[in-house]
Amino acid sequence: KKGPVTIPVVVHVVYRIAAENISQAQVQSQIAALNRDYAAANEDKGDTPACWRGLVTNIGVQFKLANKDPEGKVTDGITRTKTKAASFSSHDEVKFTAKGGADAWPTDQYLNLWVCSLGEGLLGYAQFPGGPAATDGVVILNTAFGTTGTATAPYNLGRTAVHEVGHWLNLNHIWGDTSDCSGTDHVDDTPDQQLPNYGKPAFPHVTCQNGPNGDMFMNYMDYVDDDAMVMFTAGQSARMHATLTGPRKKIGT
Ligand code: ARG
Ligand code: ZN
Ligand code: CA
Repeated sequence: KKGPVTIPVVVHVVYRIAAENISQAQVQSQIAALNRDYAAANEDKGDTPACWRGLVTNIGVQFKLANKDPEGKVTDGITRTKTKAASFSSHDEVKFTAKGGADAWPTDQYLNLWVCSLGEGLLGYAQFPGGPAATDGVVILNTAFGTTGTATAPYNLGRTAVHEVGHWLNLNHIWGDTSDCSGTDHVDDTPDQQLPNYGKPAFPHVTCQNGPNGDMFMNYMDYVDDDAMVMFTAGQSARMHATLTGPRKKIGT
């Protein structure tokens, strides 16, 4: 697709206790964070080292809370479901009403974002394009969602969802999920990198003979803190747009 693509989003808030039933303002803050970062309108993009500043790319994708539900009725784009589950795993129970979660809205028309408590130390997880329709979408830990309310440092800039939506648009982790430099993210302008980076790394961090500049750890597809990830590249943008004209071509307008 040429020009900005707008993706309708439904946020399924699944909660057991009141604190997990996050506010509309917190939901809206997450949509704003997605729009900020996918437009490269984040003020901290200047933290990108000079050697890569020319790669910082406005993806031209925007997100909008749905204003019509699947039946065509007016909605604020948020569903709220009370559950008995103290937390969910990465096995998709949160995506099914029958399993204590909330069923997806048609996944060819909406990006489904589930927000809940997660076990296993998970911040979130995503399904890549091409998977089963019933589980398509992204799951985010409630305290790593948005920029206000229960969002908690160092995951309070909405970037867990920025990262997970990157997977949903077919981006891989920069290091390719191996630990011996053999993996790839299938993107040429992100350097090969050995492992995920965490926290707030110091530049440069050289691995896999990627000196002198080293790992592009400030990319959204690494594992650093929210305030240390600030950019997508042109190559990542091309890969996301290939998905929007290919397997996800129905969803954008
Ligand atoms: N661990 C998650 C994943 O593998 C995402 C990490 C997001 N990092 C962040 N700073 N919010 O998809
Ligand atoms: Zn990831
Ligand atoms: Ca690469």
